[in-house]
Amino acid sequence: MNELSNDIERILIDAEELDSIVRRIASEIDADYSYIDGRKNHLLLLGVLKGSVVFMGDLMKHLKTPAEIDFMKVSSYGQAAKSGGSVNIILDLFRSDLPETDILIVEDIIDSGRTLAYLADYLRLKGARSVRSAALLDKPDRRETDFEPDYKGKIIPDEFVVGYGLDYAEKYRTLPYIGILRRDIYEK
Ligand code: IMP
Ligand code: MG
Repeated sequence: MNELSNDIERILIDAEELDSIVRRIASEIDADYSYIDGRKNHLLLLGVLKGSVVFMGDLMKHLKTPAEIDFMKVSSYGQAAKSGGSVNIILDLFRSDLPETDILIVEDIIDSGRTLAYLADYLRLKGARSVRSAALLDKPDRRETDFEPDYKGKIIPDEFVVGYGLDYAEKYRTLPYIGILRRDIYEK
C-alpha cells in the first residue's frame, strides 16, 4: 500500500478508467489532426508543467498522429489548494517554426480557466498556426472565464484532487489514480 494513499478521502478515477479516458482523447485528436488537414499538420503537444506530465506521457503513447513535444511552466498566485489570480510564465516556449506549428496545450485540469485562456492567447499572439487544448479533468463549477478546452477527459465535482501528476504542495503526483484529498490535509 502506498503510504500517500492514507491522505486520500476516496478514489475518484482509478487507473483503468484513466486509461480509457486517455485512449478516447487520443482517438479524438487523431481524428481531427491526421486526416482532416492531412500531412499539413505539424502537431506539437505542449505540456504544462508539472501537473500534465503523466497525462502527457500516456496520451502521446496512444496517438497515431506524429507529434513533437515541448513544455511550458506557469504559475498562478494564490493558496496551494486554490487557483490564483494572474498567470506567470516560468518557462517559455522558444521556437522559430511557430507559424507552421499546430499547438495542442496539454493540461491536467481546468478550474477557473485562467491558465488555459492565458496560454492559448499568448501562443496565438506568439504566432502559432493553430492552438487547441486538452484537459484531463474539468471542474466547471469554478470557471471564471468562458474558455472551454477542445478535448476534455472527465467532469469532476468541486473537490481538490491529486494523483496522476496532480499535486498538493508538490506531493501525491506519483499516485496512479485521481483521488480526492482529505480536507484536513489542506484546511489547517
Ligand atoms: P485554472 O487556471 O484555475 O484553470 O487552474 C488550473 C491549475 O490549477 C491546474 O493546472 C492545477 O495546477 C491547479 N488546480 C486546480 N484544481 C486543482 C486540483 O483539484 N488539484 C490539483 N491542482 C489543481
Ligand atoms: Mg497545473
